[in-house]
Amino acid sequence: MHDILPKDEKYWKPMYKTISDLAEHFQFSRIETPILEEVGVFVRGIGKGTDVVDKEMYVFEDKDTTKVAMRPEMTAAVVRAYIMHGFWNMPQPTKLWYWGPMFRHDRPQAGRYRQFHQIGFENFGSNDPSVDAELILVAFDFFKDLGLPVEIKINSIGTLAERANYKNELVNYYRSKRSYLCEECRQRITKNPMRLLDCKETGCQTVKEEAPQIINWLGAESKNHFMKVLEYLDVLEIPYQLDHTLVRGLNYYTNTVFEIYTTDEQEGSQSALGGGGRYDLLVEEMGGRPTPAAGLAIGLERVVLALKQYNEKNNREMPKVPTDAYVAQLGEEARRVTMKIINQLRGVGIKIAFNFFKTSLKNQMELADGLKAPFTVIIGQKEVQDSTAIIRDMESGIQEIVDQKKLVTVLKRKLGRFDDKR
Ligand code: HAM
Repeated sequence: MHDILPKDEKYWKPMYKTISDLAEHFQFSRIETPILEEVGVFVRGIGKGTDVVDKEMYVFEDKDTTKVAMRPEMTAAVVRAYIMHGFWNMPQPTKLWYWGPMFRHDRPQAGRYRQFHQIGFENFGSNDPSVDAELILVAFDFFKDLGLPVEIKINSIGTLAERANYKNELVNYYRSKRSYLCEECRQRITKNPMRLLDCKETGCQTVKEEAPQIINWLGAESKNHFMKVLEYLDVLEIPYQLDHTLVRGLNYYTNTVFEIYTTDEQEGSQSALGGGGRYDLLVEEMGGRPTPAAGLAIGLERVVLALKQYNEKNNREMPKVPTDAYVAQLGEEARRVTMKIINQLRGVGIKIAFNFFKTSLKNQMELADGLKAPFTVIIGQKEVQDSTAIIRDMESGIQEIVDQKKLVTVLKRKLGRFDDKR
């Protein structure tokens, strides 16, 4: 678990802005569920035999012996809320998004934390392939807006019946290769065979490469759904790679599954920035009416790490909201007047900066220069007495004295803000 420090605000703030703009544009409504849920929500939702449920969940008994879990993800919780609040009575599809901390007792390493933040999008009520493509588009646009190049790895794991047939074949194949497998894979053969395809051990790679591919076990309907998703991605010009070993670590998926990776060559383990897929059976399994659904989540700490590496390599900075004016003050009296002025300027949307601990004009001008503020407003003793302010154009050095009452109007005009009625 870790602190998010002010120095990283330049990453967190644009992520929040981008995601809330995208949510509004694609008409997703915000949902917030509790951090603690009755443990069954996640055990039923994510499934036994997954690392998240078997090894990573923070579970404890509260004071009245209810077994609760700190949410390791939000899809199961959102499904619980969808059923509980009778969301199927709303116009479908129901589109929800969220942002918040998740908890997994994972092995700590770069990009793997025990408390981390996800943003997620869930779409209930339609099994149309355009829904899958729209979710991928939202994720892709999120990274595009932040300036990080990404690609999608995508696969279809079919329906339950198709997967059951495939699993038999997979188990037979892996049994015949048992002597080449790592210890964990040997256990996976009986415990969770689909995860055999996810093994990162070098010894298991050749076995994996020659493993049967699920695509050959899909029926016409599943194949057709998958082809249509891919056609949408082609139309949207979203780069993707088919990956027949992509199975995801949570049990609720059916048909489309995908993960998002940066295409920038990065140091350390190349882990997914986000992932998701279809979960057409989950609402019913958790006690609701049969409701097709799909969603995705993005891990924000991983996005910050990837952006940092990418920016450093490419000599790039996160775009900043520029400062419109620096407000400098000289002396006790001036500080009082300045306090009032900075609030007036903020009130009309002028982005200002100031520092009351700096007393010399020289120091304050240096700060204004550093921020590349186009104007500095200066209030000294004389300006306090005359109820005036000096506006200095930082590029030309030309100074103008204005009445304090006219400061807002004059500064707005200089900044070219004529449309603001406030
Ligand atoms: P997930 O793949 O388990 O999917 O997590 C999504 C993302 O959360 C990962 O790609 C990763 O970026 C981030 N993440 C996961 N574990 C950690 C960790 N220990 N430290 C840092 N980041 C982490 C889900 O959670 C599904 N609920 C996604 C979904 C939504 N499927 C359908 N709807």
